[in-house]
Amino acid sequence: MTIIDGKGIADKIREEIRLKVASLDTKPGLAVVLVGENPASEIYVGMKEKACQEIGFLSKKIELPAVCEQVELLDIIDKLNHDPSIHGILVQMPLPKHIDSNEIIEAIKPEKDVDGFHPINLGKLLIGKPDMIACTPLGCLELLKRSDVELVGKNACVIGRSNIVGKPMASLLLNEDCTVTICHSKTKDLNKVIMSNDIVIAAVGVPKLIKDVKEGAVVIDVGMNRTEEGLVGDVDLDAVKEKVSLITPVPKGVGPMTIAMLMKNTLRAYEKVHNFEVLYDGK
Ligand code: GUN
Repeated sequence: MTIIDGKGIADKIREEIRLKVASLDTKPGLAVVLVGENPASEIYVGMKEKACQEIGFLSKKIELPAVCEQVELLDIIDKLNHDPSIHGILVQMPLPKHIDSNEIIEAIKPEKDVDGFHPINLGKLLIGKPDMIACTPLGCLELLKRSDVELVGKNACVIGRSNIVGKPMASLLLNEDCTVTICHSKTKDLNKVIMSNDIVIAAVGVPKLIKDVKEGAVVIDVGMNRTEEGLVGDVDLDAVKEKVSLITPVPKGVGPMTIAMLMKNTLRAYEKVHNFEVLYDGK
């Protein structure tokens, strides 16, 4: 068994981005909007801000109380959409129940949607013309590629069907010519499906749910479950360690890659804006 060093790979990508940013005349800007007081969200937003500072991005954090109204949030997004110093906009999920998250996501300009959650960006991915891709699935794919995992023709199962991870992950793997199965809470005989797949992406949010895999399987564990034992994944690493060929740990696996991909998407959004300027300037 080899443990995939997600933290090490993420650090390398962040350093690559930092060097690119150091050569720019202006800074790429990322705005992060946080609504309410969810402790996990506060930690994630703090990590995103710190990454921006280390890489040399402009970072803008906007905090709103849990009782804020839909229109207030829409108004903030409208201002950020028109702010030329901001290239990426991220609204931290989940939002309070009274907020319509879909409407908020759709209000973000697709070219500033560094989360890749906008229906236009999800649609582009679905038709095999990806543009801005959701950070966690993109990070998982990057881990597979940087670990030299052959994808063409492989059987891959994605456990979880969220718009944030499961669905874009399945599309990415399909675009890489995998044969993809998506599993969810109503899937019959989940174990049987898992046992017939070469690649397993676990994104269900159930601690240590997966206790057996096919001999030689590659396992990417997206789970970040806070339990009495601390942060644990969706996969029971001890139970599968004799059988897997490659596996990501929790923590220090997929988590750091999500942030690295957010930085990559923000730089990409910046580069797209500046290429347009160059094109239309006639330079
Ligand atoms: N909440 C959990 N993961 C994410 C993410 O990748 N982006 C946003 N915006 N919210 C999240």
